[in-house]
Formats: sequence, structure tokens, C-alpha cells
Amino acid sequence: MDTNPIPTLSMDPFSDAVLSDPYAFHGELRDAGPVVWLEHLNVYGMARFDEVRSSLLDHETFVSSRGVGVADFAKEEPWRPPSLLLEADPPLHDRTRGIMSAILAPARLRLQESLWRERAEELIDNLTEKDSFDAVTELSEVYPMRIFPDAVGLMDEGREHLLTYASAVFNAFGPRNKIFEEGNASSKEASAWVAEACKRENLKPGGWGQDVFAAADRGECTSDEAERLVRSMLSAGVDTTVNGIGHLVLALTEHPDEWEKLRAEPRLIRRAVDESIRWDSTVQTFFRTASHDTEVAGHLIPKDSKVLLFLAAANRDPRKWENPERFDLSRTTSGHVGFGAGIHQCLGQVIARLEAQMIIGALAKRCTRITRVAEPVRRLNNTLHALASLPVRVELA
Ligand code: HEM
Repeated sequence: MDTNPIPTLSMDPFSDAVLSDPYAFHGELRDAGPVVWLEHLNVYGMARFDEVRSSLLDHETFVSSRGVGVADFAKEEPWRPPSLLLEADPPLHDRTRGIMSAILAPARLRLQESLWRERAEELIDNLTEKDSFDAVTELSEVYPMRIFPDAVGLMDEGREHLLTYASAVFNAFGPRNKIFEEGNASSKEASAWVAEACKRENLKPGGWGQDVFAAADRGECTSDEAERLVRSMLSAGVDTTVNGIGHLVLALTEHPDEWEKLRAEPRLIRRAVDESIRWDSTVQTFFRTASHDTEVAGHLIPKDSKVLLFLAAANRDPRKWENPERFDLSRTTSGHVGFGAGIHQCLGQVIARLEAQMIIGALAKRCTRITRVAEPVRRLNNTLHALASLPVRVELA
């Protein structure tokens, strides 16, 4: 073990430069070796597909209960009470995941399909009354907010806090840098609103939120746990899909031939959603903590080490993907780690896919061409690759 020293990299993975355009840095990380030492943060890093995927799958060695951000909950007070899903290990995780998987089962989600399609078509009809619009502020930030809060059964007043809150949650997985501090300062009110919104008495009947409290009534969890499980949907279910849809539009504007293919063959939309998550992974990174001394690719990772897994870099690893920087609807996307892998693999991936399919399907039905009219503007976040603006012009069918 460790006959070759682990390469050290000095770059801060959470610097403005890396967060706005991470891909050159990801190449350096992958080329440096299967395991690297990130001296700026004093953590190990992995960016190659094989090592990222096998670490995600090995939840007993690389645990989540000590936080999936840079903070080690064994040494530091968590920023907020930990998630009972994302920041939990078995056996607790088995129980909470079981409750939520039943509520968000694919067959139940399909019940939303016709309503979500109708809302998507309405939005696209309105947007295409003008020949250009902002695909972020007028589309990807708008559509999920028109369907997701209703599906959860959230109170009407104050829903605009959801994006601020989600953005702060994803910032908090990174270091306490300027981006975190700015997000944190503006999120106080949003956090208070979310805490209220998750309470049983504030959730509307018929929504997924009340389903969680029904599980509490059956004795599957306590009411306090139910509140925190509803919070997971609000933390993870908005800014992720907003940026997933934004990146899919970006991919299609940058690859007009793929847009043509998708219009000619609408069944490709499903693949397009996963290919865009592979191509520009909304969730860029998550941490784990080594529960015991372990070996990865011949290198020792000592017990209690924090390890940064670069999901987005794994999804563009040329050792795994041919022409990885190309958004390509003819490739097989299965196996990408943009939704994670193993026991923590995204609970909401069916929701995310359905939302994106509905809105991009409506766009493809209505428009023959979509072109970018200005450079996209990035919104920096410590975990998400996020967009602030993407002005586009469309030509109608
Ligand atoms: C494009 C959209 C989305 C992306 C890219 C995404 C990505 C991810 C990733 C990478 C993980 C794994 C975390 C880890 O291994 O530590 C995850 C977990 C999770 N996601 Fe998503 N997500 C998306 C949408 C959603 C939605 C709509 C929901 C709504 C319910 C959701 C809820 C969750 C939850 C609760 C977890 C934790 C699951 C667990 O630990 O068992 N996500 N997501």
C-alpha cells in the first residue's frame, strides 16, 4: 500500500474560478491520480469514475452520517439538524428511505404527469409569445415552482423562500467561504419559513407532505422526524431541478444537431435529461468520511479522513466516456453518477426526470430552433453548478 505517494494539489476546489468553470481543474484532478490530497482543505479527493462510483457504493467505509459537506459532524456542530436521509447511515437510513420511497414511488408520481404536462405547455405557450426570453429566470426557475410546491402541499404564502433556502443548503456543504457567508446571511428568513412550512398543520391535504405525517401516524417515524423528512424534499427538490432544466436548455443550444434529433424523435427526451446531467452535473460534489483505515487504488485513506467525491468530474472521465465533453444523444448514459449511486442515490430522480421531460417536451413541440443570444451567466454555489441567466431566441413550428 502507498508505494506511490498521493499527489498533492494546491488549488481551492471552492474558489470562484473553479466553481464558475470547473472542467479544466477536473481534468487536472483526474490526471493527477485516482486519489489526490487537496491541501487547501486538508481532505482527500477522487475524480475518476471508477473510484468515485465505488466509494459511493461502499457506504460502510465512506459514511454519510458525519456530514456530506466538508464539516465533520463528529468534531463540529452541524449547520442545521442533520438530514435523516442524506446525512444518515443504516439502520436509520433504511427506515427513513423506506418511508420516503413508498411516498415517492414511480407509480404515484405518474399520477402528476397530465397536470405537469398541462402546466409545462401553458408556460411554453406564454413564453413563446415573444421570440426571446431568459431560459433561467423565465423558464427553469419558474416551471418547478409551478408544480413541486403544490405536489408537496405547501402553503401558498412565501414559496419564493424555497430557492433561497435550497441554495443556502447546498452552499453549506462547502467551506465557510464568502459564498457561504453571503448565502447564509440572506437565508435566515427562508429557513424560518421552511421550518413552518414543514409542520403538519401547514401542509395541505392530498400532498406528499401529509403522506409523511400519515407514516408517522402508522408509527413508522415520529412527528419530529416527519417534519425533517418533509424538509428533505424542500432542500433537495428545487434548486437541483431548476439547474438541471437550465443545463439541458444550455446543452441543446450548444448542440443544435442534438436539438434536431430530439425534435425528430421525441422519445429521446428521456435520454437527453440524463445526458445533460452527465454532461454538466448540477450536483458537482459531495463529501464522505472514512469510518476506518481503507485502501483505494493502492493508497491508504486513514480512518476519520474527509474525502471529496467529484461526481461531475467522474461524469466526464475519458477513461469511462468517449468524447465526454460532447452532449451526445446517441450514447448510453446509464451508470452516470449525477444522481449519485448506492443507498443514497437520489430519492427524487423520477421527479427530476419527469419535470425536465415535460418542460423540454413542450419546448420541442412548439419550437423548431433555439439559439443562445448572449453568454450564460453563472450563479456561484459551493455544490451546485448553477445558472443565473441564459438568454435564448426561439423560432416557432
Ligand atoms: C436534477 C435534479 C437532481 C439532481 C442532479 C440530484 C442529485 C442528487 C445526488 C447526487 C444525490 C446523492 C447524494 C449523496 O450520495 O450523498 C441525491 C440525493 C437525494 N436527492 Fe436528489 N437530485 C435531484 C433532484 C431531487 C429532487 C426533485 C428531490 C425531491 C424529493 C431530491 C431529493 C433527494 C434526497 C432526499 C436525497 C438523499 C437520499 C438519501 O440519502 O437516501 N433530489 N440527489
